[in-house]
Amino acid sequence: MELSSIQNITSSDLGKIMGEGSYGKVYEYEKDKVYKKFGYDLVADECGIHKSVINEIAQLYFISSLDCDIAPDVYDYHISLEYQIGIIMEKYDTSLWDMKVRLSANDIAFISRQLFTKLYILLKNGLYHGDIKPANVVMNKKTKQIRFIDWGLSHVKESHVIDHISDFLDYTEMFSDPSTILYKKIGKKLDYAKCDIWSTGVTIIHLICRYMHKKYPFED
Ligand SMILES: Nc1ncnc2c1ncn2[C@@H]1O[C@H](COP(=O)(O)OP(=O)(O)OP(=O)(O)O)[C@@H](O)[C@H]1O
Ligand SMILES: [Mg+2]
Repeated sequence: MELSSIQNITSSDLGKIMGEGSYGKVYEYEKDKVYKKFGYDLVADECGIHKSVINEIAQLYFISSLDCDIAPDVYDYHISLEYQIGIIMEKYDTSLWDMKVRLSANDIAFISRQLFTKLYILLKNGLYHGDIKPANVVMNKKTKQIRFIDWGLSHVKESHVIDHISDFLDYTEMFSDPSTILYKKIGKKLDYAKCDIWSTGVTIIHLICRYMHKKYPFED
């Protein structure tokens, strides 16, 4: 995988919007691919390029070297002369947040096992996602295979106990663990691994509540 040529992807190359996040939009791009386009104003900061964009690209590159089905395959990166950056990656049908399908109890058990198996591989490799939640897990509707997306807040650390976490404060409140909340309140040290384990648990609770009550218990 190489950093692609400088070229523009125009709107006529893009299909429907698959999702929208804080950094830009994700479009359908060709049959089995999506294009995650980072917005101009957020991409360019005073240092040139917003660091979470670079972080996402770097982490996806690292994950692809692990060869372990944790993130969607990345096919290409694009940088245009107008500071537009985009990632072309494998398309999944839906996120666990947006899904219209009703999962069975077996599906939830299968998804939960995958979540923790993938999380185990991540933590074993010293990689912390930093924002695990249903909107950041995509799924193939038919096979129920899942992948983690949205690596902008992730970190690679030798020690997972960290004391400089300014980036981490973007962590989605409803899915954050007590140490993140305590950090925000009293500056207590934060444990990245615990954050990911906690938010994976809350993601599973979310799936179970939707299964039992057809309700969304937590806000995205
Ligand atoms: N590979 C993919 N296949 C299918 N849908 C995707 C894919 N990647 C992203 N999406 C959709 O786009 C949405 C936004 O993507 P992503 O979370 O990567 O963007 P973001 O701008 O970093 O979001 P935010 O910061 O708000 O969490 C996802 O919640 C999902 O619905
Ligand atoms: Mg997201």
